[in-house]
Amino acid sequence: MGPAEGRRGVTIRLEHISKRYRLGQRETVALDDVSITVERGEILGLIGHSGAGKSTLLRCINLLERPSSGTVTVDGVRLDTLPERELQRQRRRMGMIFQHFHLLSSATVAENVAFPLRLAGVSRTDRERRVREVLHWVGLAGFEDKYPSQLSGGQKQRVAIARALAPGPDVLLCDEATSALDPQTTQTILDLLLAAQRELGVTLVVVTHDMSVVQRICDRVVVMHRGRVVETGTAADVLLDPRHELTRELVREAGWQMTGRHAPLMGRRTVLTFVGDNVYEPVLMRVAQAAGVTFSIVEGRIDRLKVQPFGRIVVDWQGTDEQWKRAAALLEALGVSVSEAVTTGSRG
Ligand SMILES: Nc1ncnc2c1ncn2[C@@H]1O[C@H](COP(=O)(O)OP(=O)(O)O)[C@@H](O)[C@H]1O
Ligand SMILES: [Mg+2]
Repeated sequence: MGPAEGRRGVTIRLEHISKRYRLGQRETVALDDVSITVERGEILGLIGHSGAGKSTLLRCINLLERPSSGTVTVDGVRLDTLPERELQRQRRRMGMIFQHFHLLSSATVAENVAFPLRLAGVSRTDRERRVREVLHWVGLAGFEDKYPSQLSGGQKQRVAIARALAPGPDVLLCDEATSALDPQTTQTILDLLLAAQRELGVTLVVVTHDMSVVQRICDRVVVMHRGRVVETGTAADVLLDPRHELTRELVREAGWQMTGRHAPLMGRRTVLTFVGDNVYEPVLMRVAQAAGVTFSIVEGRIDRLKVQPFGRIVVDWQGTDEQWKRAAALLEALGVSVSEAVTTGSRG
């Protein structure tokens, strides 16, 4: 595995997808006219609360779920009109992993990973070689003869990833793949998904309700609410400047909506966002000096968006309106985004 796998990613286009479930007299609209595009080689996050339609949409990509209407196009091929046999072949280009791993408990690790290869008619010798190769790639060399019950959650998910990648898919569909794992194990699985993107060129669609997953691995995000798409953007846009109320709520839950509301007001309260290698302290010093203002830092957090460093701090400024205007202009010119903090409820 590795660069030899070539660049596999494909573009996925879902257009005007609706899905209705009928239970007796009652009808549930799980998806209501959803259109999304997944770009070749990217990691797209599908986020939203439980019941938003994320899993249903994910399953429409490989047509495990038949949409009530709409079209599914993968790498230029319309999947929804393909005859079943041809669809089976196309499905092999898409691996899938789940929250609860879905391993066969009565089969060994090697047999689990070999399963899709067997279905694809791969010879025994090639299967054995490939199973060893993918197990090595996910860090489970030597685990061939173990049973799922002998593995930790993280190891089980590695087996599931090995199984999904064994046929050399172009796409990996992930449904809450880290939701059953502790934070440390989550990080190792997310690293493996990033490696699938970087080393294998796989395109990933990642369903999650967890903003930290978005922050750590996603390039773009689609936010869903009640079967509809309510917001789409780059991970940076959605995390740092959420537009829809639901997105704001998800971002707030993840602790990115800082207001410094617990600290006494010491001037004009602002939220500054630094993206990239800008280190904030020297920038604040330079701006304060040039504009003749002083400042105090109320609250701050520095982190990464995928690999890009960024920081967000709440700062109180002391000075005249004129001086502040100058400072704000300088900050913007240095690539720092400036917004007024919501100070309702703060003392001061
Ligand atoms: N097989 C099904 N039969 C009936 N209703 C379903 C079925 N699958 C999903 N739903 C309903 O569709 C809606 C979206 O579900 P789902 O896609 O699982 O949401 P999410 O993954 O965002 O939690 C929910 O209201 C759910 O109850
Ligand atoms: Mg779901």
